[in-house]
Amino acid sequence: MNRLTLLILFLMVSLLVIQSCTDESVVPVERQLNLPPVEFDYSTNAVPNHVANNLSDNTPPFNQLTDAGATLGRVLFYDTRLSKNNSVACASCHHQEKGFADGQTFSTGFEGVKTTRNSMAISNLKFQKSFFWDTSSSELEDQVLAPLKNHIEMGMENMDYLVTKIEASDYYDELFETVYGSKEVTPTRVSNALAQFMRSMVSYESKYDQGVESNFSNFSGLEKMGMNLFLDHSRTACGDCHNPQSNFAATWRDHANIGLDLVYEDEGAGSGQFKIPSLRNIALTGPYMHDGRYNTLEEVIEHYNSGIQNHPSLDWSLRDGGGAKKMNLNDLEKQALIAFLHTLTDDSFTSDEKFSNPFR
Ligand code: HEC
Ligand code: HEC
Repeated sequence: MNRLTLLILFLMVSLLVIQSCTDESVVPVERQLNLPPVEFDYSTNAVPNHVANNLSDNTPPFNQLTDAGATLGRVLFYDTRLSKNNSVACASCHHQEKGFADGQTFSTGFEGVKTTRNSMAISNLKFQKSFFWDTSSSELEDQVLAPLKNHIEMGMENMDYLVTKIEASDYYDELFETVYGSKEVTPTRVSNALAQFMRSMVSYESKYDQGVESNFSNFSGLEKMGMNLFLDHSRTACGDCHNPQSNFAATWRDHANIGLDLVYEDEGAGSGQFKIPSLRNIALTGPYMHDGRYNTLEEVIEHYNSGIQNHPSLDWSLRDGGGAKKMNLNDLEKQALIAFLHTLTDDSFTSDEKFSNPFR
């Protein structure tokens, strides 16, 4: 190469760099959408009774689950075009192999800014009364628009811009047409489809679920010991709030203060109370708690065992004679609880193609 070609090459590269910087740093999207020739079955969506015995299904009459609707929801969930600069999709912070959490203490939004709370796992949302760590949303159709509009997460405050961007992608015409009978894109159509996909994500095939069918003959001694401890109100009280019959979350209320701190920086739903999260797939969804303060289940167990703070709003289940409960678990008992929590992992849910990324 002579000097002149080198100089020309250098100029060309510089031009390219300058050009890409002036383009509002929009990330180019060049992926193929791959949908199955026949839609996956989302609408059957039946789960065994034991999963949510005493909870009702939050599907509203105006947004019944259909295979086409959930398929559109899946595409939207994985599409980075739903963020202002095409850099972030819902799935950027909700990874299937991690039970739809993301393994981060705080997640990174579309401009590289961190969220102020830990990303939440997603499964069996159709049995839940409220959403977000502070339980501030009570309808999934509303909830799914929040991350889109959020200035840290996806930055689409302007819903008209969202509509324009979706209309500009060739593959959405047919998808909207199939679901809604016309290709018109509206924020309501977007949120309804996303909510359908959220409700289709049901997890009920963990080792625990198989155990329910077989009187837990599939459990090891340690796992059985852990289950008994988990359900023992006086020793641990775990089942008071994470009730197995209620999808491992609460039955009659949805938030509690578990004495993480004496003074909370983030008060959650008020007085340091946060959503009682389902423990399904919990071994995959760390870091744990609303602020991701614990990296491992060992740390979570040690909190409940010896670290509960005597906050004025500390829940009654975690008190003992007025003070904070001390569980005094020995090492074997701690291991047993953790072994039991691992039985809530559902590999068929985390590997099911119908919940996976359709862009390849
Ligand atoms: C930048 C990361 C990020 C993106 C992008 C994102 N989320 Fe989230 N998601 C979070 C965080 C963090 C929370 C918890 C927020 C809170 O409680 O304040 C959350 C909570 C949720 C919840 C509540 C779950 C529960 O049990 O209450 C649902 C459902 C959800 N997200 C779905 C979505 C959907 C649908 C999208 C796309 C439209 C999306 N998320 C985009 C990080 C993200
Ligand atoms: C009083 C109700 C209550 C009791 C009793 C309780 N929990 Fe929790 N649990 C919660 C709440 C509320 C949170 C979320 C707290 C936060 O983030 O501030 C939580 C969070 C968790 C998490 C982390 C979930 C996540 O997604 O980050 C695990 C794991 C957990 N609990 C396990 C247990 C175990 C094991 C026991 C028994 C030793 C137990 N819990 C007892 C209410 C309770």
